Amino acid sequence: MSATEQISFRVEPTNSSRLSQVDFNNLKFGQIMSDHMLVAEYNNGKWEDVSIVPYGDLTISPSMSALHYGQAIFEGIKAYKFEDGTVSIFRPDKNWERFNKSASRLQMPEVPEEIFLGGLKQLLDIDREWVPSKEGTSLYIRPFMFATESALGVHPSISYKFVVITCPVGAYYSKPISLKVETHYTRAAEGGVGFSKNAGNYALSLYPTQLANDEGYDQIMWTDALEHKYIEEAGTANLIFRIGDTIITPHGDTILHGVTRRTIMQLAEEWGYRAEQRRVSVQELIDGIKAGQVSEAFAAGTAATITHIDRIGFEGTDYTLPPVEGREFSNKVLDYLNQLRYGKVEDPFGWNFIV
Ligand code: COI
Repeated sequence: MSATEQISFRVEPTNSSRLSQVDFNNLKFGQIMSDHMLVAEYNNGKWEDVSIVPYGDLTISPSMSALHYGQAIFEGIKAYKFEDGTVSIFRPDKNWERFNKSASRLQMPEVPEEIFLGGLKQLLDIDREWVPSKEGTSLYIRPFMFATESALGVHPSISYKFVVITCPVGAYYSKPISLKVETHYTRAAEGGVGFSKNAGNYALSLYPTQLANDEGYDQIMWTDALEHKYIEEAGTANLIFRIGDTIITPHGDTILHGVTRRTIMQLAEEWGYRAEQRRVSVQELIDGIKAGQVSEAFAAGTAATITHIDRIGFEGTDYTLPPVEGREFSNKVLDYLNQLRYGKVEDPFGWNFIV
């Protein structure tokens, strides 16, 4: 399908909205889905049947290939409501690009802009009442695609479903988190699928994360597959540190290229900080903490936004990070991004995608 080809959406509004059942003052993450969802089908080499329909169950075949061979990818995006009621999605174009990179790596079809970005616009338009406005809340948007061919045998599926669901959310992490440096299990190796947002990257994290939880940590800090010497990401978010005067984030194709991470690193540069995307060894971090050089450490992601890290466990020892109140850069970024996303300041970068 060419980028200019028009796609028509079938819209079937619900006749029984669940909006009145939602307690917008007490939003948990990912529990209540908005009234509508977008569903598009890919058959015979093209996208067809794009529709916005009431949120509900999907029918699947037991031989559906995504269940067996794992062709399943997703994204996480957030929309915010300004004081005047304007609904704005934060940088969805970057998620669209990343989604298609994930698709290519898993031999899945790309989703055209009209369906992904055009679809988000139409979906949020019909569910604009679902976008919460209180600071710290947002509408979480979950686009995903999976292989639907009903056949066993390892080959790229001939059919796919692209679906977008949304849900009003509060914080994913409501307080600073502790991380255990993972030196046995591996998230991704060079040449693998670490950069892609595929379902399997999350499935593989569950067991080692449970082990870390059992030891009293909230999450794990993944390290490289080869030597377990270099820091990668937290699994639910990217990692950013302030070591000395430099804002540093681990870099490479074994980690997810987060939109929040890239936004924060751009702001660091704009604001005149020294900003580096490079390998960071666990030893550099631990030595920095011991020497009082690591003044800030945080997880950065769509769901996590900016979540401060207060403790890091490595080889049986816990290292405590400085108090959250004194973290100049991360608190400043969080405050600025809140103001920008809720439309309280100008948007010099064009990051707000108005619905
Ligand atoms: C996101 O940040 O949007 C994610 O997909 C991470 C997931 C752990 C909720």
